[in-house]
Amino acid sequence: MARMRLDKLLSALAVCSRSGVAALLRAGRVRVDGAAAKDAGMAVDPDVQIVTLDDQTLEWKAQRTVMLNKPCGVLTAARDPKQPTVLDLLPPLYRAMNCMPAGRLDKDTEGLLILTTDGQLAHRLISPKREVGKLYEAEVDGPLCADDVAAFAGGLSIRDADGAFQAKPAELTILSCGEAESTARVRVTEGKYHQVRRMFAARGRMVTALRRLAIGSLYLDESLQPGQWRELSPQEIRLLEQAPAEPEARRESPAEK
Ligand code: URA
Repeated sequence: MARMRLDKLLSALAVCSRSGVAALLRAGRVRVDGAAAKDAGMAVDPDVQIVTLDDQTLEWKAQRTVMLNKPCGVLTAARDPKQPTVLDLLPPLYRAMNCMPAGRLDKDTEGLLILTTDGQLAHRLISPKREVGKLYEAEVDGPLCADDVAAFAGGLSIRDADGAFQAKPAELTILSCGEAESTARVRVTEGKYHQVRRMFAARGRMVTALRRLAIGSLYLDESLQPGQWRELSPQEIRLLEQAPAEPEARRESPAEK
């Protein structure tokens, strides 16, 4: 990380606005490597120097990636004038650092959502060319059968009020089957608008509850209740980074030349 102005660092960490820094400095509450900071414009290197506020070390990370158990009723967006968004569930630091959802869940869908400041990682997860697998659990309003499993595996033709597309083959695993309600897991490798709901609708079933369990090989931490979140560990970020490369990138990679 390059050196940056102290006031910029403090506002990026959502400690206060850039204009609020002067008051903190006047009160001697901010220290850099143990010495009270006096100048809001002083250059600091947050990777090397220790910056404290009221003796608490401020942890600087150039990139932040979060796993959120998105609750129903919240929009996958950075802001909305009327409705709560997933960014409202995180501390202000994440908005200040421009942390964005990598992909989208419907307002009524629950489960794993990744939010990241790392544009490359976000692109890797959402690029249609990479076909990163996404695993969902769905409750539907009637029975499911072997014909449904075969139809998902063969690639469903979707034609509805939202348009038409040929879905890629998807894996349907029936977990329970009843006349009035069934549950199933579905693994898809694309993310069209309302994809899973429309796939079931094409088989005459309405999805009554939908939850995302995994993206690639990263599973939702089951200890997170809806609305709770945590930062990913470096190992978990590596799992996401192992999402398949785009076909062109694979062809051009030096290892394969
Ligand atoms: N498919 C859907 O229909 N909705 C989601 O939120 C995600 C996948």
